Amino acid sequence: MSTAAELRAALADGLAEHGTPTDPAWRDAVRSVPRELFTRAYFTRVGDSFPAGYRPMREGEPGWLEGIYTDQTLVTQLDGRVRPDDVAGGTVTGSPSSSSTLPSLVLRMWQQLGAHAGHKVLEVGTGTGYSTALGAHRLGDTRLTSVEYDPAVGEAAAAAIRAAGYAPRLIIGDGLRGDPDGGPYDRVIATCSVRYIPLPWLHQVRPGGRILVTLSGWSYANALALLHVTGPGEATGRFLPGHTSFMIARPHDRPPRPHLALLPGEERPSRIDPAKLDDWTGGWVAQLAAPSAERLGGGDRQILWDVSTGSQARTAPHPDGGWTVVQRGPVRLWDRVERAVQLWQAAGEPHQERFGLTVSAAGQRVWLGDDDGPGWDLPI
Ligand SMILES: C[S@@+](CC[C@H](N)C(=O)[O-])C[C@H]1O[C@@H](n2cnc3c(N)ncnc32)[C@H](O)[C@@H]1O
Repeated sequence: MSTAAELRAALADGLAEHGTPTDPAWRDAVRSVPRELFTRAYFTRVGDSFPAGYRPMREGEPGWLEGIYTDQTLVTQLDGRVRPDDVAGGTVTGSPSSSSTLPSLVLRMWQQLGAHAGHKVLEVGTGTGYSTALGAHRLGDTRLTSVEYDPAVGEAAAAAIRAAGYAPRLIIGDGLRGDPDGGPYDRVIATCSVRYIPLPWLHQVRPGGRILVTLSGWSYANALALLHVTGPGEATGRFLPGHTSFMIARPHDRPPRPHLALLPGEERPSRIDPAKLDDWTGGWVAQLAAPSAERLGGGDRQILWDVSTGSQARTAPHPDGGWTVVQRGPVRLWDRVERAVQLWQAAGEPHQERFGLTVSAAGQRVWLGDDDGPGWDLPI
């Protein structure tokens, strides 16, 4: 059986072999930080049922250490409260609300951030503290501050980071407010996603600084953006290649909706194939067009439900070919989604890396192609 140090070295080497960009200094961080200190207990997914089922995996159980040194995300909290040690045995269901992100993604993001020695960095979403410890190893304790929203998660992370021998500045609070007392920063990196860029970040990062954050929403579509701060309250940048997704920042999560009830409405043929919304970028474009809608269903039976107005849209295949859509409520959700998807299709259905985001006093706008191209305003 391999020791933790051997597994850690194999993980660091494996990341390099599988294409994760590998600045030797970051690889050294992976070799040095014991992930097991941050994931003494985690959840493993059971089957592919919905809602998702999880079983606790505790220190010393067969497969515990091997799971930690596999390049995978380890869920450590469900529904904002249930931790593995709260579960006596068997399977629980829930939505992941905290985790240790897969090491290859953590490493890739630290490198995409372009943080160098001497930079002052704010991390939003401490989680288990593993990514924080990697950052502290590479950048130094005094250059790094990390914010965690959930007090129980933040306290456990603080203990683990201490046990690993690091001492960055740790804050328990809402990272969407940034760190009003600690700026200015050179970099902000978020390991939770947002519906729009929090304005405090744009004032706490100095001009010339960068913000790396995943833009998500209530239809669960994600894209990773690298923004360059151009002035106080202003930034612009592009979305990056790949398929990065993160749990949404808790204050940006959608409000609870009533039990799903499909109601009658106006029916017409759909001008697009509803299954386009299952595409990684197609679903994200639809989310830009209808940002307060939750997407349910899939394939040619999509359901959009706008949680702020109660508006609905649902599609179905037509027996003679093509598809129909039924819409009701003050927001014609499918009209908006259709227009956005057609624009995207006319551009050749590109990945998000052909899109960018500009933030200014006038608002926050995602655009396709160039910053004067077609675009969508984010729901600030
Ligand atoms: C994917 S986990 C972070 C993973 C972590 N960086 C690691 O490697 O272990 C996302 C974390 O963001 C936290 N979070 C959510 N909303 C937040 C907010 N507004 N401010 C700070 N943290 C937040 C969650 O509680 C959760 O712990």
